[in-house]
Amino acid sequence: MANLTKEELFQAKIDAEIKIEPKDWMPEAYRKTLIRQISQHAHSEIIGMLPEGNWISRAPSLRRKVALLAKVQDEAGHGLYLYSAAETLGVDRADLMNDLVTGKAKYSSIFNYPTLTWADMGAIGWLVDGAAIMNQVPLCRCSYGPYARAMVRVCKEESFHQRQGYEIMMTLSNGTPEQKAMAQDALNRWWWPSIMMFGPSDADSSHSAQSMAWKIKRFSNDELRQRFVDATVSQAEYLGLTLPDKDLKWNEERGSYDFGAIDWDEFWNVVKGNGPCNRQRIKARQKAEENGKWVKEAAMAYAEKRRKRQQKIKTQEAAKAA
Ligand code: 3HC
Repeated sequence: MANLTKEELFQAKIDAEIKIEPKDWMPEAYRKTLIRQISQHAHSEIIGMLPEGNWISRAPSLRRKVALLAKVQDEAGHGLYLYSAAETLGVDRADLMNDLVTGKAKYSSIFNYPTLTWADMGAIGWLVDGAAIMNQVPLCRCSYGPYARAMVRVCKEESFHQRQGYEIMMTLSNGTPEQKAMAQDALNRWWWPSIMMFGPSDADSSHSAQSMAWKIKRFSNDELRQRFVDATVSQAEYLGLTLPDKDLKWNEERGSYDFGAIDWDEFWNVVKGNGPCNRQRIKARQKAEENGKWVKEAAMAYAEKRRKRQQKIKTQEAAKAA
């Protein structure tokens, strides 16, 4: 071990499944890719509140409203958890938020689609949170300690999100023909954007190889996407709904479903900021930042006042003791 370089020692820790903690030495590239991924993940949680927040005041019952309110509040908490995990890598949360509101930072493509009917709340919980669970459970074993630990709590809450979404879809699918049609319409609009959430194909993923070598990623984008498709087909069948993919077919040999070609032009177009709701989402965040400025200033002023008061007490006590 003595004559290993710092990089070799670092990789030996990763290979031995030893968690990397904030104070440990790490290659700058490892730190940078974690800041990139964790901050984008946090931004996704915060922006993800907007499409669903749109239906809180229009939920069809108090029970549905309370469940949706709890879910949207959970997403805010996930964002705060993840910003805190990112800060352990030496970045400032204010800078991360600024990258988001100036359109510099990425967040998950899925949140740039409109939520047109109540059934979209079901489809998002079922499919988007379902895909998030598929992608986030392996992150509980990420090599970076703070990220892995944040994911454990997040995944527990995602399971509730997925259940409440699927239950909405079950109610609608077993409801009137109009309700079932609304559920099918939501599935038709959310299915393909949900499988795009897993990122570009492995061949086009610029980060996967290195992220897997560093055990940030445990499975490739295509592996997790395939798992999600395989897990979701029977759920759609149980609802009596049809997945909008005429090429979807069980492949006995592979033990998985073959599915149709993803529209990567649509994916990259949305990632580049030209999706149906990208501008609306950024504007909403800019407005929230503006409207929330006074809260931040008041909290900072109070903290400063408290710090000064504690400092004064310390000085008085020191003078007494002398
Ligand atoms: N939306 C927007 N950008 C995406 C994307 C998506 N769905 N998928 C990939 N990209 C971007 C990547 O950020 C990268 O761009 P960058 O170099 O500018 O950062 C580029 O496309 C190449 O993609 P890679 O596959 O090489 O990038 P990664 O290795 O980072 O893999 C990822 C992408 C699988 C999304 C990975 O970053 C990841 O697992 N992130 C953490 C989980 C996450 O963010 N989940 C989605 C949203 S959270 C959520 O759904 C909340 C829930 O409560 C609803």
